[in-house]
Amino acid sequence: MQIGPILVDPPILLAPMAGVSNRAFRALARTQGATLCTTEMVNANALLHQSAKSYWMMELDPGETPVGIQIAGSDPDVMARAAQEAERHGADLVDINMGCPVPKVVKNGDGSALLTDEATAVAVVSAVVQAVNIPVTVKMRAGWDHDAITAPRLAQRFEEVGVKAVAIHARTRSDQYLRPANWDFIRQVKERVAIPVIGNGDVKEPEDALRMMEQTGADGVMIGRAAFGDPWIFQRVTRYLATGQQMSPPSATERALMGMRHLHRMVEIKGERVAVPEMRKQLAWYLKGTPGSAKYRRRCQQLTTQVDAETLVEEWLDHARDQELTWS
Ligand SMILES: Cc1cc2nc3c(=O)[nH]c(=O)nc-3n(C[C@H](O)[C@H](O)[C@H](O)COP(=O)(O)O)c2cc1C
Repeated sequence: MQIGPILVDPPILLAPMAGVSNRAFRALARTQGATLCTTEMVNANALLHQSAKSYWMMELDPGETPVGIQIAGSDPDVMARAAQEAERHGADLVDINMGCPVPKVVKNGDGSALLTDEATAVAVVSAVVQAVNIPVTVKMRAGWDHDAITAPRLAQRFEEVGVKAVAIHARTRSDQYLRPANWDFIRQVKERVAIPVIGNGDVKEPEDALRMMEQTGADGVMIGRAAFGDPWIFQRVTRYLATGQQMSPPSATERALMGMRHLHRMVEIKGERVAVPEMRKQLAWYLKGTPGSAKYRRRCQQLTTQVDAETLVEEWLDHARDQELTWS
């Protein structure tokens, strides 16, 4: 898949996810085969008000490429300036958020609210495209609700003003996450545009990625929640798409070691005080689904220090190694 000058091959992407797709997790996803990663959503207004958190979210690892920085907002001028800031920070592409369903975002007309206002949506996209020299992409839900599936028409308008790819999360804003994704929305967009269409929503297993591409004609697949505690998903999907072969999932030991690596990188980047609370849910995800993990996962919720977190993972490792010996 080609996004402007960027070759994304194989086209298997990590979804932008607030609180998850920071540079520590993006690095793990990349080593496991995610060929394009995007930052968490950065609020354009906050960025232009020099918010430290926004700048932090735009930080990229040295040599991290290709990478997109996602911006959110609905004022064309503010979004154009935020996009220039993203370009200065080393982004290979700027992605515009038109999917976020959160009330505090949509009440400002941002995120998925833009799906209901074609004129503003096109003005935002057009201003961003003109402001930067890197490709611009848009990630959007299918529409506000099932009576207003606006993504196909919007995608066509965005292509006309110079967008280089669109990612479609196959749900409406009103679906939140309550309904399963309807991949037909991706097909409907694909029929309307010549630029690459990236399908997103409920890809949980390698077979889902293949089915999505076959059913919709999507040029690429974007994976979000299935990567929680399981960055290997990108490798399994890559292998399956290339050869039709299934890789075995990671062992409990491998998962614990990946959790430890993730923890260490987060502490390096954010410092212990911020990183450890943020790692509570992530460590619990690494331990999930393995025999005997419930009591360790409960302990994750209380972690406050790096030593506590390391001790927990080490105890889990001992437990997992014992189990693996018993199983073999
Ligand atoms: C915790 C969380 C945070 C998210 N944050 C963002 C975000 O910042 N920007 C965005 O475009 N989508 C965001 N999303 C939506 C995902 O990118 C993706 O569209 C959605 O989870 C559906 O894909 P999946 O079924 O593979 O998880 C978020 C989703 C989750 C679960």
